[in-house]
Amino acid sequence: MRFGYFDDKSREYVITTPKTPYPWINYLGSENFFALVSHRAGGYCFYRDARLRRLMRYRYNNVPTDVGGRYFYINDGGEVWNPSYAPTNTALDAFECRHGLGYTRITGERKGVRASLLMLVPTGHTAEIHQLTIKNTTSAAKSLKVFSFIEWCLWNAYDDMTNYQRNFSTGEVEIERNGATLYHKTEYRERRDHYAFYNVNADVAGYDTDRETFLGLYNEWSEPQVPAKGESSNSVASGWQPVASHGLDVQLAAGEEKTFVFTLGYVEVPREEKWEKPGVINKKKAHELIAKFSKPEQVDAAMKSLADHWSKLLSNYSIESPDDKLNRTVNIWNPYQCMVTFNMSRSASYFETGIGRGMGFRDSNQDLLGFVHLVPERARERIIDIASTQFPDGSAYHQYQPLTKRGNNDVGSGFNDDPLWLIFGVAAYIRETGDYKILDEQVPFDNDPKTAVPLFEHLKRSFHHVLNNLGPHGLPLIGRADWNDCLNLNCFSETPDESFQTTGNRTGRTAESVFIAGMFVGVAPDYAYLADKRGEAGEAKAARAEAAKMTDVVLKHGWDGEWFLRAYDFFGNKVGSKDNKESQIFIEPQGFCVMAGIGVEGGQAKKALDSVKERLDTKYGIVLNNPPYSEYHVELGEISSYPPGYKENAGIFCHNNPWVIIAETVIGRGDRAFEYWKKIAPAYLEEQSEIHRLEPYVYAQMIAGKDAVRHGEAKNSWLTGTAAWNFVAISHYLLGVRPDFDGLRIHPCMGGEVSKFTVTRKCRGAEYRIHVKNSGQSGSSGAPKLIVDGVPVAGDIIPYAKPGSTVIVECEV
Ligand code: GLC
Ligand code: GLC
Repeated sequence: MRFGYFDDKSREYVITTPKTPYPWINYLGSENFFALVSHRAGGYCFYRDARLRRLMRYRYNNVPTDVGGRYFYINDGGEVWNPSYAPTNTALDAFECRHGLGYTRITGERKGVRASLLMLVPTGHTAEIHQLTIKNTTSAAKSLKVFSFIEWCLWNAYDDMTNYQRNFSTGEVEIERNGATLYHKTEYRERRDHYAFYNVNADVAGYDTDRETFLGLYNEWSEPQVPAKGESSNSVASGWQPVASHGLDVQLAAGEEKTFVFTLGYVEVPREEKWEKPGVINKKKAHELIAKFSKPEQVDAAMKSLADHWSKLLSNYSIESPDDKLNRTVNIWNPYQCMVTFNMSRSASYFETGIGRGMGFRDSNQDLLGFVHLVPERARERIIDIASTQFPDGSAYHQYQPLTKRGNNDVGSGFNDDPLWLIFGVAAYIRETGDYKILDEQVPFDNDPKTAVPLFEHLKRSFHHVLNNLGPHGLPLIGRADWNDCLNLNCFSETPDESFQTTGNRTGRTAESVFIAGMFVGVAPDYAYLADKRGEAGEAKAARAEAAKMTDVVLKHGWDGEWFLRAYDFFGNKVGSKDNKESQIFIEPQGFCVMAGIGVEGGQAKKALDSVKERLDTKYGIVLNNPPYSEYHVELGEISSYPPGYKENAGIFCHNNPWVIIAETVIGRGDRAFEYWKKIAPAYLEEQSEIHRLEPYVYAQMIAGKDAVRHGEAKNSWLTGTAAWNFVAISHYLLGVRPDFDGLRIHPCMGGEVSKFTVTRKCRGAEYRIHVKNSGQSGSSGAPKLIVDGVPVAGDIIPYAKPGSTVIVECEV
C-alpha cells in the first residue's frame, strides 16, 4: 500500500494522507542551521548542535506520536483546524505534503479554505521561513482568525527535559511591533550571546508567549484555548514555558488569497554589544535577517537559490534509464540522504534525539564515501577533523563532538576497526579529487598541535595499529568491538545500565575479528599505492606482504568450510561457525572478505556468497546473522541482548547488505547483486509501505529480520551508513562508474534487467557521458567493450580528461 507518490520532475515525494504509518520527515538546511520537519509539520530546528543550540521543543516518544512543531491554527466560523492536520486532527477535505530538496510544503483544505505552508531554510541564513498562503475558494467572503504557534526549547535540549527546578524560572521573552516580532531570550542575561525570534511580516491582532495561556490549563494540544476563542491573550511569559504565537485577522473576499511570511531566526551578538539598553536585547541583526525575508518575492528567490544549489550538486552523478525507481534513487534521493547524513552524522532524526552521539570516527569516514563527489572540499575538511582525533598509537576516539571537534572521553577508544576506516576515507577522497597534497597536511594527534605530523603518517599508524594488535591466530584483535558495535567480546557485563560499548571487564588479548582482517586486506592495496606515490617503496612492499600473509591467515583460521568465520571470542572459541548452536553465519566477513578478494581464486568467495543466499537472504533483505541468539550470552555482549530478528541480532542491517552486493559484483554475479539491492532500496518498497512503515524515499538502518515478530518493518531511517554504502554499491559497482587513482573505471555489473542506460559523471573537472548497452552477460572478469570519443580502449579504465572537457563513452556489456 502507498501513502503518496514520487513527483520526479519536481524532485519531491508527495504524501497524500496525514495518516502515514509513522511520521515521514524531511531535513531543511545545509550549513549551520538545520530543521527536521514531518509531514504533519512536526519537528524542530537548531543551530549547528542539536543538543546545545536547540530552538524548538520536541517531545520524543510521546503521545500522540510527533508532538511539537510549527502549528498554524485556523478558526473559521468557530471551527478550528490545521493545514498540517496536526495537532487538532480536524478532518480535512484535502491534504498534501511535498517533501522536496531542502524544503517542505504542506497544504490542507477545509470548507472552502485552502492553506498552504511552505517551510525552508534559505542557504546562507540561520532561519526557518514559514510562508503561509491562505485562499478562499468559495464565492462568499470569509473572515478567519489565524494563529501561528511554536514552543521554545531553552537551548540545551538535555537540560530542557530534565532540569525543571531551574528551568521553570528562567524563561524570558521580549515583544516588539505589538507582537509581530516575538523574541526568546532565556539565559541571555547571563552567558548566552544568542537569542531567537519569530516574526510575521504583517500587523497582528494579538500575540501570546506563554504556553499555558495559549493552550489553557490541562488542555491537550488539540484543544488550545486561544484559537478556540479566536482571540490572542497578549500573554507575556515569565518562566514556565515560553512560546511564540501571532494572532492574525484575515479577511478574504471570494476567491481571494493572502500570503504571510514568518521568520523563525537565530542570532548571535558580540558580547560587548549584547544590550541596546539595560534589559533590552540588541535587535539589529534580527532586524536585518527579518528584512531579508519579509516579502514573498524574497522567499521565491530563496527557493530558486535552493533549487540551483541542489541541481548543481546532483549533476555530479546522474543516470537515465527505463527504470524510474533506479533513476530517482540515483539522481535524487540517495545523494540527498548522503548529504543529510554528512550534515547530521547520527545526531538528530526521529530515532536519534540529538542529545546522544557526536560524530563517529568510523561512521564519518563511511559517510564520506557517499558525499565526496558532491562536496569534495568539505570532505577534505572532514578528513582533517577526524584524523585530528586519532591517538599517536594509531587508535582513535570512537566519537568526537561537532561543536568542539574534540574526542569524546565518555566513549573513549578501543574499537579496533576504527583506524582502518581513515585509510578508506582518505583513499576515496584522493580517487575522487587527485589531491595527493592532502597527505602532506600537518595533522595533530588528539588535537594537540605540538604533535602534528603529515596526514600520511596517520594512515601509517592506522595500518600498523592492526599489525601491532594481532591475536593468537594472527588475526586482528577486536578490542571493544569492530564494525558491529554490539559484538562485545571483552565486555562480560552482568550489570544492567552498564554500557556494552564502554565496559571492558576482561583485558585479555585473545578475541579476534575476521571482519577486521578482511578490511585490512581490502585497504592494504590503497595504502601501498599511496606509500609508493610518496616514494616509500619499502613500506609499500611490506604492506603488500602483510596483506598476503593476512589473506593466508584468513583462509587458514578464518574459514569455516562453507563461509568465513566471524571471530574468535575471549576463550578462543569460534563465533559464526557451523559448530555453534546459534549464529552459525554472519554477513559482515562474507561481504568484506570477498570485497577484499580473499578466496576469489580458490572458490571460497563463491561458496561464502552462496551460503549467504541460502542462510541469510529473505524477502526483505539479508539478515545479519542466523540463527539469531535466543538468549543472553555474557561473552558476546549486546548482540545477544536484542530479541531475535531485531537490530544486530539477525535484523536486516541495511548498512552491510551493500557489502554483499558489491561482493557479488566482484565474482561477476550482477543479476543477484541488483536483486539484493532492490530488496532494501526504498523506492522499490513504496508499494509495501504499510509493512515497511518508514519513508519510501530514504534507507532505514534496520528492517526486522525473518525471526522477528514484525518481519519487514523498518526502523531508524535517515541517519545511517546505509545511505553512503548503497550509493557506492549502485553507482560504483552495479552501474559501474567509479573513480580510481589513475582514471575513471567503467565496469557495469548488474545483470540484464536494465537493458540500457546513460550515466553522466563529473569528475576532476571533466564530464563523462557514458552510454551503456547492457546485455548483463559479462561478469567481473569479462571487461566491457569501451569506445572513448570514437576510439576503442582496452581494459576498463579511461584516463582522466582535461578539466572542462566532455568525454563520450560507448560501453557494451
Ligand atoms: C550503527 C553505528 C555504526 C555501527 C553499526 C553496527 O549503525 O552507527 O557505527 O557500525 O551500528 O553496529
Ligand atoms: C546500540 C545500537 C547500535 C549502535 C550502538 C552504539 O548498540 O544497537 O546500532 O551502533 O548502540 O551507539
